Amino acid sequence: NAHPRLAQVMPSLVRHLHDFAREVNLTVDEWTTAIELINECGRMSNDRRNETQLLCDILGLETLVDEITANIVSSASVSGTSTPSAILGPFYRHDAPLLPNGSSIVKDLTPAVPWYDQAVADSAYITGRVLSHNPLFPDMPPTPLRNAIVDVWHTAPNGLYEQQDPSQPDMNLRGRFATDAQGRYAFYALRPVAYPIPDDGPAGKFLALLDRHPHRPGHIHFIVSATGHRTLTTQIFDDRDEYIEKDSVFAVKDDLVVHFEPRERDPQAKWSLNYDFVLEAA
Ligand code: DHB
Ligand code: FE
Repeated sequence: NAHPRLAQVMPSLVRHLHDFAREVNLTVDEWTTAIELINECGRMSNDRRNETQLLCDILGLETLVDEITANIVSSASVSGTSTPSAILGPFYRHDAPLLPNGSSIVKDLTPAVPWYDQAVADSAYITGRVLSHNPLFPDMPPTPLRNAIVDVWHTAPNGLYEQQDPSQPDMNLRGRFATDAQGRYAFYALRPVAYPIPDDGPAGKFLALLDRHPHRPGHIHFIVSATGHRTLTTQIFDDRDEYIEKDSVFAVKDDLVVHFEPRERDPQAKWSLNYDFVLEAA
């Protein structure tokens, strides 16, 4: 009495694995090397680092599974009426502080911080609305959602997330914001920079063997949620970035590429961005 989903999935997995081994004439030595790579990923993984996920990501698997999942649960993301999803990645933390709209996720920014100048040059005010799209009424314009939660995180200008970098304060560049009655959110952050995925482990060594670069284009992660709606996990990508068309983990989608505008007369921000998220009623 096998588990029904396993009974469906396993014959196909085994068939494809066997076909793959036959197709490339996989030898015992090569198989052993692959086993060692996977073991090394497991040994390296802990709650701060998920090397096995990283290995999947450089093979495009997380992006593919994300796409398949979106196609199963949502017709609207396919038809372009709700905001497309993108992979979660390995650096999400659940308990980012809930902050008032208009506040900053940049903590303790003083001239003593090594990347102070770049943080000032890249300071950005990010605003937008969270909207609801109901797939039962596809022609209705999306409506604002109050009390939606916009959970955001990105790296410092040194390319490191707060938990990767002992020099950053806890929860730096992370925050959650609740939308107001008009569905609006607003916060200060930084324009994101390109950076390499962690390439000091087995996934990075493997990338180098494949002659591939480890860089991701600058991006900001979001999880946007609201009662009665499908939770959206996504990323936005800065269009200034040279890696936008060669993301090492294949997460970029056209609708997620954004353009920051120069911001005048705001001592707290040199740039602004307005971006609306459209959630699907469930
Ligand atoms: C990956 C994703 C990220 O967002 C990131 O910052 C680093 C790595 C990944 O998919 O492995
Ligand atoms: Fe990331």
